[in-house]
Amino acid sequence: MATSVISTAELKALVLDGNKHQMIADNDYFSQIKPLEDTLPAIDPSIKFDPAIHLAFKPEFLKTCKRTTMEELGASCPEQISDIGVSEPFPLFTDEAVEIMRAELLRKEVFDEFGRLSYNSTTGLGAMIRGYAKDAAPFTYTAWTHPITVSAVSAMAGVELEPIMDYEIASVNVAMKSPDAAANELVSSRRRSSLGNKFDDDVPAVVGWHNDSYPFVCVLMLSDTSKMIGGETLIKPPSGEIIPAKGPAKGKATVLQGRILNHLASIPIGFTERITAVTSYRAKNPLTFDGSVLSTVKPEVNYSTVYNTFYPQWVSYRMDIISKRALHIKETFDKSLEDKEVFDKEKAFTLLKDLEAYLHKTSTEMEVSEKEWAYHKSRLNMKPT
Ligand SMILES: [Fe+2]
Repeated sequence: MATSVISTAELKALVLDGNKHQMIADNDYFSQIKPLEDTLPAIDPSIKFDPAIHLAFKPEFLKTCKRTTMEELGASCPEQISDIGVSEPFPLFTDEAVEIMRAELLRKEVFDEFGRLSYNSTTGLGAMIRGYAKDAAPFTYTAWTHPITVSAVSAMAGVELEPIMDYEIASVNVAMKSPDAAANELVSSRRRSSLGNKFDDDVPAVVGWHNDSYPFVCVLMLSDTSKMIGGETLIKPPSGEIIPAKGPAKGKATVLQGRILNHLASIPIGFTERITAVTSYRAKNPLTFDGSVLSTVKPEVNYSTVYNTFYPQWVSYRMDIISKRALHIKETFDKSLEDKEVFDKEKAFTLLKDLEAYLHKTSTEMEVSEKEWAYHKSRLNMKPT
């Protein structure tokens, strides 16, 4: 099919079919991914995630690990769900846990079913593997959803969190380069402004400037970074001065209030593989502001999102929040009646309008604009042949 003349109707059919037009080519899998898998031990299906063995997090990290506040970033706003903006890398999972996660992930059947070319990669082979954890990676799924892991991430984030939905557990970004390309990079310098250590707006990126779709993320590094130089997350607060946040080493993670903070994952120099797993969260309290959008994750934009699995989960999570908020409104006015209070109409308007807006957003976020279809079409032409 000539991608330059593909119609939106044809594209819709491809999206409904699971974006198979953007699968990772066998050639790329066998030349770049399979060699990584071959270095790993076979998965022992009897191994279950045990926080006493596999979680590397310790409560003392809360004191020793620098966490930059939204205020320090000049990004405080009413929509923030925590005072914390971003954390330094902290140990989250042990080496053994990371090896098991890699073994679950790097299998051919996982790449075929859940892996697609990145919709926004700016260099090399970029792939995303999403929505696989619950069905195809039981260790990974339990590791991220275990209550002790969730409380560790929440503690670092400064707010009680809950993973958005199963689809957003351990979303993987893979960036691969040939050893030659990696070696060449080590002799070239990264682009920086004339201000020495300060980064300019055009810094080469694994993923360009963006805001995440969900309130908070935890980014876990699954690759050895000992030979990489750079690879920071750069944050551009409203004040404009770009602030680098150190990227995590293998087994370490960072938390980031990525819905509000405009950020970019800069390209490290000298890597041959860079694999990260990102889990997205909202505040556990259903009444806390939830500004989630679908701009970077909807299946019409992000090829690794499967239409028939993703959208039902989105609707279900939103209805869960809506029912809890509706119950809160009901109980608020039941109590006011019981207490024989004067009816607070303004309060009722505010609560009901918020609920309406949240419901409205639930459906409008699933709409696809002409611009988004055009973007999808333009990226089709970038698919390697
Ligand atoms: Fe991001």
